[in-house]
Amino acid sequence: MCGIVGIVGVRPVAGRLVDALKRLEYRGYDSAGIAVIEESELVRRRAPGKLENLRICLADDPVDGVTGIAHTRWATHGVPNEANAHPHIAGDVAVVHNGIIENFAELRAELTAKGVSFSSDTDTEVVARLLDDYRSNGMAPRDAVLAMLQRVSGAFALVILFKDRPDTLFVARYGPPLAIGHGEDEMYVGSDAIALAPLATGISYLEDGDMAIIDRDGAVFCDFAGEPVRRQRQPLQLSAMLIDKGNHRHFMEKEIFDQPEVISHTLGRYCDFAAERSAVADDGIDFSKISRLTIAACGTAYLSGLIGKYWIERYARLPVEIDVASEFRYRELPISDDTLALFISQSGETADTLASLRYCKEQGAKTGALVNVTGSTIAREADAVFPILAGPEISVASTKAFTCQLALMASLALRAGRERGTLSPADEKELVHALSEVPRLMSQVLHAVQPQIEKLSRELSHFHHVLYLGRGTSFPLAMEGALKLKEITYIHAEGYAAGELKHGPIALIDENMPVIVIAPHDRFFEKTVSNMQEVAARDGKIVFITDESGARASELKTMQTIVLPDMPEFIAPMVFSLPIQLLAYHTAVFMGTDADQPRNLAKAVTVE
Ligand code: F6R
Repeated sequence: MCGIVGIVGVRPVAGRLVDALKRLEYRGYDSAGIAVIEESELVRRRAPGKLENLRICLADDPVDGVTGIAHTRWATHGVPNEANAHPHIAGDVAVVHNGIIENFAELRAELTAKGVSFSSDTDTEVVARLLDDYRSNGMAPRDAVLAMLQRVSGAFALVILFKDRPDTLFVARYGPPLAIGHGEDEMYVGSDAIALAPLATGISYLEDGDMAIIDRDGAVFCDFAGEPVRRQRQPLQLSAMLIDKGNHRHFMEKEIFDQPEVISHTLGRYCDFAAERSAVADDGIDFSKISRLTIAACGTAYLSGLIGKYWIERYARLPVEIDVASEFRYRELPISDDTLALFISQSGETADTLASLRYCKEQGAKTGALVNVTGSTIAREADAVFPILAGPEISVASTKAFTCQLALMASLALRAGRERGTLSPADEKELVHALSEVPRLMSQVLHAVQPQIEKLSRELSHFHHVLYLGRGTSFPLAMEGALKLKEITYIHAEGYAAGELKHGPIALIDENMPVIVIAPHDRFFEKTVSNMQEVAARDGKIVFITDESGARASELKTMQTIVLPDMPEFIAPMVFSLPIQLLAYHTAVFMGTDADQPRNLAKAVTVE
């Protein structure tokens, strides 16, 4: 939800600001802009659309200056045109903002009544206009920022540049994340550590309610009342190399192909393959003392939690309550102190997931965060942190984070089963052994199915609707397949529990409806095949994703059958994720949509 970056430097900043925005483009790409101090004046360039447009604009009309701020936008208030692009300038102040100023209408009306005019439809502009108003009344920059922070409500990460303080940035956070980067003789600020990775050697995170003043010598922190606070500086170890596309056409393709390797890191961390047991951890959680588990997450992360529910209930006999975080946070779920509440989030910044975590903490639950970004707010606020170790995920559509979340959930389910005495050592051994096979199987599947899926994608691209079906853990996977397809190809897709077909969706089936059936040869196979027969009887076009045993057992005529190697039921969701990811990816490539940056989406959803 918008990426922001700023540099207080000794060398020209425009090129580096745009490079940093490139690393933040996953947060939004509706428009981009930059403002610098050039010859004691605020100079700005903005362009609607992707960052490339801003690059072209800067090439035609360059800016010079050693202090600057920049922004890539995911539109909330106001269409994505140039006038609504950040930075917003009012008088001698320029502002970039991530989040939503909830009382902007009231502030705008108040300022308008005083004769102030606005040049955009954004909520952000009120911040710039308020600051300008305070400055015109003689307030010093710091006092003006503190006064503004008393007036605005909502969620915001703000970076502010005053024309008459050319070597200083004022920053504030309430909600969306903000990190300050420390360099040799320069200082940086950005929405996340990835943006600052090639620039900074150290990093400090603002907490909610922090303001900071940054100059070339460092950063001074205070709260919104102006009282000093201390924030630690940590080394920044993220390599910029990690966020390179390599030889792949898109980050999504690279991230799909990264999975055998990254999942081996996750499994290596949470399983002891020598002893063939899930690894012991010192996270303070004792599953034998927990009577109930709740999980809250959004989108793909929610679907990984749903698969985790099947595993935890089966192997640890622990009831699991799971909901999408946007509902969970308002349900007023009764929670006791023997509840463990888990929150799954790639970014660790999703607003609804964070609010759910805060609710559970207030209610006294023990909380755990399964996150990819370990410096994120959710990671910092949870009692226990479980890094999923997928490495930076740049493509908006989640792929490797999903399968790493699954690997972690699977390992946790086995550990919970052992601690609760519901999983015998022999069963644990067998299941951990199965997990050790996942990277090898993934690698084999990726190379084996790619050509067939490319061909299938061409056929699929002609349809307007697609149905995905599955049973057991293949049901959440069916929903994940549908989510992936719709988000990057814009083809309407739904994922259903195969057993629900007769309760409504079967009415949709005709020769124009491809039905993708995910059915490994597991306990549910026969039942799923019966559902497939119901589809075939109504001329539905079946794409059957199964394993060798499943392919042998079914004689149904399909549009295509994708055959994976046989594997234990436990690990199937991880390996069967690959064909559904590849199918969505190749369909998007074939249709010419932007696989990495699909329309209307952003990677980190830091607003409700
Ligand atoms: C879909 C996708 C989203 C995210 C969701 C949660 O491909 O990526 O559905 O899974 O926005 O994001 P995180 O995991 O960052 O909380």
